[in-house]
Amino acid sequence: MIEGNVFATSQRTHQCGALRASHAGSPVTLGGWVHRSRNLGGLVFIDLRDRAGLVQVSFNPDWASAAAIAGAAAVGVESVVLVEGVVELRPGDMRNTDLATGDIEVRATSIRVVGPAVTPAIPVARGKNDKLPAEDLRLRHRYLDLRRPELQASLILRHRLLQVTRSYLSERGFLELETPILTKPTPEGARDYLVPSRVHPGEFYALPQSPQIYKQLFMCAGFDRYFQIARCFRDEDLRQDRQPEFTQIDIEASFIGRDDIMALSEGMIAAIWREAGHDVTPPFERMSYADCMERYGCDRPDLRYGLEIHDFTAAFAPLDFVVTKSAIEAGGRVRGIRIAGGAAWSRKQVDELEALAKSAGAGGLLRAKKTDGKIDGPVAKFLTPAAEEALALNDGDLALIVAASDRISNPALDRIRQECARRLGIVDEHARRFLWVTDFPMFDKDPVTGALAAVHHPFTAANADDMAAYPDAPERWRALAYDCVLNGLELGGGSIRTSDPRVQSQMFTLLGIGDVAEQERRFGFLLEGLRAGAPPHGGIAFGFDRISMLLSNGASLRDVIAFPKTTAARALFENAPSSVPPEDLRDLHLRSTAEGA
Ligand code: AMO
Repeated sequence: MIEGNVFATSQRTHQCGALRASHAGSPVTLGGWVHRSRNLGGLVFIDLRDRAGLVQVSFNPDWASAAAIAGAAAVGVESVVLVEGVVELRPGDMRNTDLATGDIEVRATSIRVVGPAVTPAIPVARGKNDKLPAEDLRLRHRYLDLRRPELQASLILRHRLLQVTRSYLSERGFLELETPILTKPTPEGARDYLVPSRVHPGEFYALPQSPQIYKQLFMCAGFDRYFQIARCFRDEDLRQDRQPEFTQIDIEASFIGRDDIMALSEGMIAAIWREAGHDVTPPFERMSYADCMERYGCDRPDLRYGLEIHDFTAAFAPLDFVVTKSAIEAGGRVRGIRIAGGAAWSRKQVDELEALAKSAGAGGLLRAKKTDGKIDGPVAKFLTPAAEEALALNDGDLALIVAASDRISNPALDRIRQECARRLGIVDEHARRFLWVTDFPMFDKDPVTGALAAVHHPFTAANADDMAAYPDAPERWRALAYDCVLNGLELGGGSIRTSDPRVQSQMFTLLGIGDVAEQERRFGFLLEGLRAGAPPHGGIAFGFDRISMLLSNGASLRDVIAFPKTTAARALFENAPSSVPPEDLRDLHLRSTAEGA
């Protein structure tokens, strides 16, 4: 750290928001934005703002010239001014305890407008109860919205978290190495953003969905510990926790196993959370993918509440109830959750849950509730004592059940579970339940075509025992992949890689790229790297925007990205994407087929 006031320059002596009682008596020159101003008939007060905060600047005939007072009275809000004056303690009763600079004011002797402002399109200064302008308007005028103290605080925290991350990894021997932005497509499951080449007609670069192949090539090149704060680009459907352009903490290392990567990541997460003022105590809980799906219906469960899924299939199999019977006969199961107190929910409330289950793909949602010792619901009259025992309902409980294949019941029960927790108010907002999800399946098999797709990505290594046990059933292989989850949000994911080029080639074949020439064309640069002597290696990538969002209590990634895109993938401020003149397209050997083009 450099000692002293690093903000002093030839134009200013201090930051506005950094002045304290200890500066009393000091002459200062400040530069900042006029946050508010009040003119009390000849006495002018300006709240002057910079990134450190606000300070009150007062113009009074006792110390300021008439010209200075007139100048202060005339300046518009959000204009940039340079002010000269002296820091003075405020009288006791004039102190403002809500303001970090509230013990002092600056008695100004001069003011110079260096950046006059037009009337701001959206207000920057807000009262405590003033609502924010609509988000589209704020994104359109992002340069003003970024002046808001909340956004300033989020971006400043983001900076600090990046510095901690860099130091943590660098201290452990990781090298920060950069990879290209104009690249060859890497399959990470989303669509690529493509960049046409002018000099090579009909050819395209892809923006990286992640630096995956490059970081593996670093391992082949002997840089045995790599990291990068990497910008990634994915053309996918956007949500609150997804942006088309986002930042990863990308890590790769050689001669390393899964537990090493987990321990390293846990230490890094603890350091990052500590910087934001929170204690995190590794090691994190671990759960296999299979257990997650069985107990929570999803691979990133929120463990802050229970509401676990139970399997009632055995108890329901003998019942003469057509809904469950036909599902079981078709190879499905009968699974559901028990909700204490749910019996009191109205029919409408439960209907809403059923609608949710249906929107997640289920045919319906069976309900059974117990009141005054009696089970009620469409299934009630079919229940045998054994089935009642399996349901294990207490008085006041409601069971919500889906009879279907796991592929259908998992997403439906996951949605139901989350919604019930929200309704019951049982989500502890202060709890932090970190979780490693391990042993993902290697492949997802399309139920109709039978085609295999990589669950993580094609470079992930498979569990060797599974490969040996089921050589002809790759859909049964587990991957050496792991995800880091916090309270239901996926923070990061990674895997141990396939470092044997022959095995990598077999993986491509399983994924439908059996043609050797095609493999070489698409992935030759990785295969050649592996053939040239590859160490065992693996890594992980964390979503840095998601981490920043959580730690600055942002509601969406847009709150922690300086210039984000909307959910319609538009940049409203700079107005991108936008059309280009036909001659520019011609230079790129392109023609638009869009309507009106
Ligand atoms: P993966 O695809 O799981 O892994 O991405 C890693 C992490 O990046 C974050 N993330 C996103 N954040 C914001 N917007 C998005 N559109 C978005 N997509 C992903 C998530 C996710 O956990 N190359 C592998 C890593 C590896 O194997 O080492 C990869 O990119 O937090």
